[in-house]
Amino acid sequence: MFKLRCIKCGREHSQKKIRYTCECNGLLEVAFDLDSIKVKKRDFQKRSPGVWRYREFLPVAEDSRIISLQEGGTPLYKAENLGKKIGIRELYIKNEGANPSGSFKDRGMTVGVTKALELEVKAVGCASTGNTSASLAAYAAKANLKCLVLLPAEKIALGKLAQAILHGATVVGIRGNFDAALKLITEASLKFNIYLLNSINPWRLEGQKTEAFEIAEQLSWEVPDKVVIPVGNCGNISAIWKGFKEFYDYGFVNSLPKLVGIQAEGAAPVVRAFKKGLDEVSPIANPDTIATAIRIGAPVNAPKALRAVRESKGIMEDVSDEEIISAQKLLARTEGIGVEPASAASVAGLIKLLNNGSIGKDERIVCVVTGHALKDPEMIFNKYEKPVEIEPTLAELEKIIKP
Ligand SMILES: Cc1ncc(COP(=O)(O)O)c(C=O)c1O
Ligand SMILES: [Zn+2]
Repeated sequence: MFKLRCIKCGREHSQKKIRYTCECNGLLEVAFDLDSIKVKKRDFQKRSPGVWRYREFLPVAEDSRIISLQEGGTPLYKAENLGKKIGIRELYIKNEGANPSGSFKDRGMTVGVTKALELEVKAVGCASTGNTSASLAAYAAKANLKCLVLLPAEKIALGKLAQAILHGATVVGIRGNFDAALKLITEASLKFNIYLLNSINPWRLEGQKTEAFEIAEQLSWEVPDKVVIPVGNCGNISAIWKGFKEFYDYGFVNSLPKLVGIQAEGAAPVVRAFKKGLDEVSPIANPDTIATAIRIGAPVNAPKALRAVRESKGIMEDVSDEEIISAQKLLARTEGIGVEPASAASVAGLIKLLNNGSIGKDERIVCVVTGHALKDPEMIFNKYEKPVEIEPTLAELEKIIKP
């Protein structure tokens, strides 16, 4: 049993009516009556890995038609090479790039689009820095729903744009940034009856909380000391916290991790508010970073994220584009894990916080890497070594391998 509730005034809302915020402007969240859930750890072991393994904790009707691409069940790698290199004893990488469309968004979309069918909508939509649109386009195709995506025409990684086109969404470039696109799709969703699947949608976030469930289960029901997460619109970090708390409150784990939220320097309004001890986030008018997925100046879920990091007694930090690129390279070349720049922000943040003593070398750390390297191949061509071209002779090849 679950309710839809405002996080600000506590008011309960009907689940049958489409709404994204409360009359008081507060964000909505799904609140479970955990006493009504009856499931044991060993029940999960009988099921396939993935989001729906944790069905009892997901807010859908028993007879719901579930739209799934077998998302979730992503690897948690023990990163021994990287750990040694940066001086940390127990480091794990949760590789969300291994999801069907290449990012963690799929976890949210399987629940969000399933909910869209429960609500009998005909069309879904989102604004996106890329991954949300790639994921929604795929799930809308599977559900046979129309899909509208608004993207900042200025900056969008090529792989993500290609995915939205491939899956048949109506793709519209907005002359402006993500924040402008989100404002427009929010207005459009009300006017044209389009079900909004940005992370303001509380049902979608329920799918994303399974990242926490998996981390707990993959670590044999122990939680790490800290979980490091890249932050943009603030949905994912809030969802991960909700997941850990539900497993803690249900009795599946005995402690809670501290959350570490990382933003890019040029788009770090939440880090600023956090460090100043403020509840209100002052938006940044022109956010800029190479990590286009988290190039967001006015994050809508900031109240949830600030509450989550503070409740967990965690920290927030920002990292420069140079630190992001260097972390991306290090992860790729020590562990064989290719991630997009926004995802490398978590590793960059970990390195920065290790170096300034905020994270200790004996802590057990999980870094969540959120999207696959192939999402943004252009960035690699622009910032990395260029391949060389030669005539097909041994002599020419020798010049390269024995300079
Ligand atoms: C690869 C990647 N990492 C991190 C994020 C940030 O997630 P959130 O917006 O939920 O904070 C996004 C969001 O688009 C993303 O695409
Ligand atoms: Zn309210």
